[in-house]
Amino acid sequence: MKSEDYSQGDAFQAEKRTVFSTATLPLCAAGQLARAGDFVSATVGGWSVFGVRDKEGTVRVLRNACRHQNMQVVSTPSGNCETFRCRFHGWTYDLHGRFLSAPPPVAPKDTQSPDLHLASLPSAIASGVVYFSLAGQPTPIDVGALPAYGGTLITDIACNWKVLGEHLLAEHTPSPDFTWAWPLLMVRRAGAVTVMEQVVPHTFLRTRLFTHVFGADVHDTKQAAATIKHVCEALQADRASGKPALEGTLVDDFHCRLAEAYAQAHAEDRPPT
Ligand code: FES
Repeated sequence: MKSEDYSQGDAFQAEKRTVFSTATLPLCAAGQLARAGDFVSATVGGWSVFGVRDKEGTVRVLRNACRHQNMQVVSTPSGNCETFRCRFHGWTYDLHGRFLSAPPPVAPKDTQSPDLHLASLPSAIASGVVYFSLAGQPTPIDVGALPAYGGTLITDIACNWKVLGEHLLAEHTPSPDFTWAWPLLMVRRAGAVTVMEQVVPHTFLRTRLFTHVFGADVHDTKQAAATIKHVCEALQADRASGKPALEGTLVDDFHCRLAEAYAQAHAEDRPPT
């Protein structure tokens, strides 16, 4: 990886077009959407989406793009609501993402058109995590039965998502106690506790860490998450200044997959001969 791959938007755009438009991506813990109307929104690798539990109990993942003028409908990271009202001009959607109404000055001509509904993405829940994909049905990993969900800690880190990914992978090798689901989820088991660390690439220099805890109180992980933030913000400065990335079997695998994605993006950019 070159230093600019960690510090400039071009690499992030290439990753958006390749890695994040094809991979199975985690969105949140199912426990974050426990009640009807609970929602979690995120920008994952440049794609703005949100998950919501409807009144029938189904979890849906929807594109967070209003059908009026493509602005974000959901502007808060999480919450609970009965309907989603776009703050720009008032188009309103139900918990399925179906268009409900709009103020007369901006109302569509055909209010029954299915084109007015928010775009729905294929999604799945496995081992307590909600997944989605922009390229067909997601294929999540199944890490088996888990202890009771203890909560999710959210940590914002001023680093590129790859810095966080490398840091979470560098100390591990594949083992029954550590599972990596390319590109964004690491699962650690320690006795009766399972911790899932979910990387959320918000922008090329802003990354969110979701620490989902099963079998323990989420507050027990606060210090560990604070340390990860501190270390990754220092590592970001190292990467940006050209210092080499961390090493390790899984980090090497991570870089191989990224190299494939960059080669694909490069091939797409090349004009046809
Ligand atoms: S962009 Fe949402 S109502 Fe206009």
